[in-house]
Amino acid sequence: MSTIFSIPPTIITGAGASEKVGEQAKRLGATKALIVTDPGIVKVGYPHQISNNLQNAGITSTIYSDVTPDPTLQNVNDGLKQYVDEKCDLIVSIGGGSAIDCGKGIAIKLTNDGEFAVYMGVDKIPNPGVKLIAIPTTAGTGSEVTKVTVITDTERNVKMMLSSSCLLASVALVDPILSLTTPPHLTAAVGVDALTHAIEAYISKRAQPITDALALKAIRLISGSLRQAWADGENISAKTDMMIGASIAGMAFSNSSVALVHGMSRPIGAYFHIHHGLSNSVLLLDVMEFSLVGAPHRFADIAEAMGEQIDGLSLMKQADAAITAVERLVNDIDMPRLGEIGIDADKFEEVIEKMAADAIASGSPANNPRQASQEEIIALYRKCFASRTRNI
Ligand SMILES: [Fe+2]
Repeated sequence: MSTIFSIPPTIITGAGASEKVGEQAKRLGATKALIVTDPGIVKVGYPHQISNNLQNAGITSTIYSDVTPDPTLQNVNDGLKQYVDEKCDLIVSIGGGSAIDCGKGIAIKLTNDGEFAVYMGVDKIPNPGVKLIAIPTTAGTGSEVTKVTVITDTERNVKMMLSSSCLLASVALVDPILSLTTPPHLTAAVGVDALTHAIEAYISKRAQPITDALALKAIRLISGSLRQAWADGENISAKTDMMIGASIAGMAFSNSSVALVHGMSRPIGAYFHIHHGLSNSVLLLDVMEFSLVGAPHRFADIAEAMGEQIDGLSLMKQADAAITAVERLVNDIDMPRLGEIGIDADKFEEVIEKMAADAIASGSPANNPRQASQEEIIALYRKCFASRTRNI
């Protein structure tokens, strides 16, 4: 069976990469850019730096800065209106996954007719979006290099996942300097999201040799530097590993898919407005334990990539070591468990069946090495809810 691997045609990484925005926008033939971002990023001044850099290259810009943490259809429509009204010919998204996802949503809505929901799922978008330069400020989603966007339909409480090469950015500028302002709790949450991307990309049934190489490298970089990046936000070496690790993990999962953790985490985010990284983190350990029998060799590789000594152990013990390594990591960076983040137990039970149905409908669980029925997903949600942080 043949496989496809696609990433943005230009990816520039390293300290100062974001300063290439003017040069790259000019190369793309742009005259006016819509800068898509959120209010928090405006506060730290990055959009104006981007605007000045574009100006120096002879490109004017206008800023749309109302992107919400889980970007909504309203965000996409508002940004789109500004793009059209201001006669832009390029989108520059700067921020976390939300700003970049919103930029991608605007980009394809400009070139495709009809309701957004029609494009939900895999390879449903007919036309490539308008040109987009993606600049991440956090080491998490990898959205700058993925063909995925997640837009929330607030009326239906559904996080719509769209995956298509039509969503790929023209240029990704991965600059670790921009992540120095990320606060520790966010470094932890987005870092676990990136680790989850790498783990799920590696155990996915759609994994291929190219994504394997990327996923294992990302696991090494992220597990080797997340603690330091969390402990000292100005540790440029750790932040560089995290930014590049998150991007590499993005390239991996974008082409081999995420799996059961992401399938189950999106409904938690949609119903309880929990940060995406946190909603992955609270599921990761129990879902890994459930999935392990489907791909023990792959879990053993993950343990090794995380630095565990597995020589001489039986295969299942080697695979188990991956779960212990992840548990130690999430404990070290103070990530709580599902029952510890203020979700009301009765409300959780009320929507548990719907969440399990939404998880399956997203398609991601189908790529898990162990298939989960709706009843098993419900049981997993309950198990995660009962889990507490323990000393290991
Ligand atoms: Fe994710």
